[in-house]
Amino acid sequence: MKTFYVTTPIYYANSFPHLGSLYPTIVADCLRRHFRQRGYETYFLTGTDEHGINIQRLADRTGVTPKEYADNVAAQFKKTFGEFGLDTEHGGYDIYMRTTEAFHYEGVGELWRRVARTKTPKGREAIYKGHYEGWFCASCAAYKFEEEYAKPEREGDPPTCLEHLRPLDHVAEESYFFRLSDYAETLLALYDAQPEFIRPETRRNEVISFVRGGLQDLSISRQKSSVSWGIPVPDDPTHTIYVWFDALTNYITAIGFGNEERERVVGFEKFWPAVHLVGKDILRFHAVYWPAFLLAADVAPPRTIFAHGMWLDPTGRRMSKTLGN
Ligand code: ME8
Ligand code: MG
Repeated sequence: MKTFYVTTPIYYANSFPHLGSLYPTIVADCLRRHFRQRGYETYFLTGTDEHGINIQRLADRTGVTPKEYADNVAAQFKKTFGEFGLDTEHGGYDIYMRTTEAFHYEGVGELWRRVARTKTPKGREAIYKGHYEGWFCASCAAYKFEEEYAKPEREGDPPTCLEHLRPLDHVAEESYFFRLSDYAETLLALYDAQPEFIRPETRRNEVISFVRGGLQDLSISRQKSSVSWGIPVPDDPTHTIYVWFDALTNYITAIGFGNEERERVVGFEKFWPAVHLVGKDILRFHAVYWPAFLLAADVAPPRTIFAHGMWLDPTGRRMSKTLGN
C-alpha cells in the first residue's frame, strides 16, 4: 500500500493558537483526507514545540514550571483543533506531537549520537566544541545575522529582532557546533536531484542562493546554566540541545526513530520521508539545517518542504503569538 505522511510545524508553546497556527493544520488535514480517499495509508502530525529559553522565561514570569506552562498551551491547541474538526476524534491528526514526550528525548539523543559519530563529506568531525559569541532571538530561537536585526536607538542597548520587535540576548559561551559549512555541496546536489524538495519554485530559488552564498557552522547547544529547559546533550549534561535540533527531530521520533514502541505502532520505515508544510519564516531551518542533520546521521531527507505565506493584520504585520496581534 502506498503511504503519505504530512506534517505541520510544531508550534511554539509560548501562547495560544491563532489563525496562523490553524492555517497549515487545516491545509495538512485537507491533503491527508484527499490521499486517504485515494487509498493511501496516511499519517498526519501536528503538535507543539515546548523547550527553550522562551518557554523557560515565560514560565518563570508566571510562577509555574515550564512543563506546566507547556501543558496549558498544548491543551488549548488541542481544544482549538478539536473545535475545527482537526483532531483524531474527527478523523484528523494521528498524533499531537509534544517535544516533552519521553520517546522524543530518546530519539533526539540517538540522532545527536549518530551525527557525533560521523565524518563530514570533507572528512572532519560533524560535531565539535567551540565558543559562540553573538545575538540570539528567544522568539525565533535563532542566532541572528547582521541583516536580521535593527541597531538599537540608544547606544548600549541590545539590537532588536526585525521579526518579533524584541531585544536580542547577547550570548558568549561554550557551545557544540554542527559543521554545516561542510554540507553546502551535498545540499546543492540534493536540491538538484530532487526538484520537488523545496516548493514553490520561488522559495526553492531563495534557498539555493542562500546555500550558494556559503554556510556557517551552526551552534547546536547552550550551556545548561543559561538554558536548562530542554534535552541534555548525550554524555555532557552541562549542555542543553539547541531547540531547533530538538524540534525538527520530532518528525522522525513521532513515527519510530530511536524508539521501538513507536516504530511498532507507527513505523518509520513505512512512512518516512514526509511532506513538511511550513511557513516561509522557518524555511531555512527545514530546507537547510534539517536535511544536513539527517544526511550526517545517514537518514534519508524529507520528500518535500512546502513553504506557505503569512496572514497579516490590518497594519500589514504578520499575525503572531509573540506580537499578540
Ligand atoms: O516556528 N500566517 O513555531 P511558531 C500563516 N516552533 N501561518 C502562520 C502565521 C501567520 N501569520 N503565524 C504562524 C515555530 N504561522 C517552531 C516550528 S517546526 C520543527 C518548529 C504558522 O509557533 C506557519 O506555518 O512560530 C509558521 O511557519 C509556523 O506557524 C510557526 O509557528
Ligand atoms: Mg514564530
